Amino acid sequence: SAIPDDLFAAIESLKQELNAVLLAHYYQEPDIQDIADYIGDSLELARKAANTNADVIVFAGVHFMAETAKILNPNKLVLLPDLDAGCSLADSCPPDAFGEFKAAHPNHIVISYINCSAAIKAMSDIICTSSNAVKLVRQIPENQPIIFAPDRNLGRYVMEQTGRDMVLWQGSCMVHETFSEKKIVQLKIQHPEAEIIAHPECEPTVLRHANYIGSTSALLNYAQNSASQVFIVATEPGIIHQMQKQAGDKQFIPAPPLNSCACNECPHMRLNTLEKLYLAMKNRAPEITLPEETRKAALRPMQRMLEMSA
Ligand code: 13P
Ligand code: SF4
Repeated sequence: SAIPDDLFAAIESLKQELNAVLLAHYYQEPDIQDIADYIGDSLELARKAANTNADVIVFAGVHFMAETAKILNPNKLVLLPDLDAGCSLADSCPPDAFGEFKAAHPNHIVISYINCSAAIKAMSDIICTSSNAVKLVRQIPENQPIIFAPDRNLGRYVMEQTGRDMVLWQGSCMVHETFSEKKIVQLKIQHPEAEIIAHPECEPTVLRHANYIGSTSALLNYAQNSASQVFIVATEPGIIHQMQKQAGDKQFIPAPPLNSCACNECPHMRLNTLEKLYLAMKNRAPEITLPEETRKAALRPMQRMLEMSA
C-alpha cells in the first residue's frame, strides 16, 4: 500500500483514529522519539503502559517491552512495528535451560531483569529494571538466597552496590558488551574534563572507569544536572538525541566500540522505522499475543515490582 509523504502527519492522525498511545524507548531513532507520546527507560515505559487509558498501545521498542505492555493490558491491542525486534539479552535466557538452573538452586527467589521473555517472567518472583534493581534487592531479607537473571553485568553491579551475594545467570547484551575499555581510556586522555557515564549492562572493565552509572533515564538526568560540559556516553547512542535536546550546550561523545567498523546502535531497536510504525497502525498488526496462563504468571512478579518500587 502507498506510503504517505508526510509520515509524521499520517501517524498523528492514526493515533487519534485508534485512540492509541505511542511509547518509545530512548534507543529508538530520533524521528521515532520525536513523534512518541512518551519516551522513557524500561521502568517509566512499563508504568505508562500500566496506567494508560488508550485503546491501543503502539510500542516503539523491542519485543519484550511490547510483551510487558500486553502482560499489563490483556484487553488492549498492543502493536510492535517489527516482530523481529528481539533482544540478545532476552534470547540469552531460554526457558528450558532456565528451568533447570532454577531447579539446581532450590530455596532461591528469582529476581529477573525486565529484559527477558514472558516465559522467564512467569518463572520469576520479582521483576526489576536497571533503575530499581538495587532498591529491590535491598528489600529482600539477608538470609534469603537470590537468583538474578538474565544480565550478569547488571547482576554483578547490584552485588557490588548492595554487598549481597547472588547466583547469576550468565546472560549479556550484545550492545553493552562491545565497548572498548582501551579506546574509552584514550578518549578520556584526549578529553580530561569529560565525565564517563555508563549503563550497568556494560562490562566491569568499562564500569570501573565510570563517574556515574545508571539506567538510560538516570544517565539523561545526570548529564542535564552535572556541572560538566563534556560526557563520554557508554550506552546505546540513541539516548544522545535526548541529551542534546535537553542540554544542547554540552558535548556528548559516544563511547567507542571494540571494532572500529561497528557502531553501538542496537540492531534490534533499530529495526523500527517511521514507515513500519505507520503500517503497523494502519494495519493494526503485527500484534502481541500471549497465552493467558503465561500472562497471568508473568503479571504477578511485574506487580510486585511496581509495588516495591513505588
Ligand atoms: P533502560 O532503559 O531501563 O536503562 O534499559 C536499557 C536497555 O538495554 C533496554 O533494552
Ligand atoms: Fe537487548 Fe541490549 Fe538491544 Fe537493550 S540494547 S534491546 S538489552 S540487545
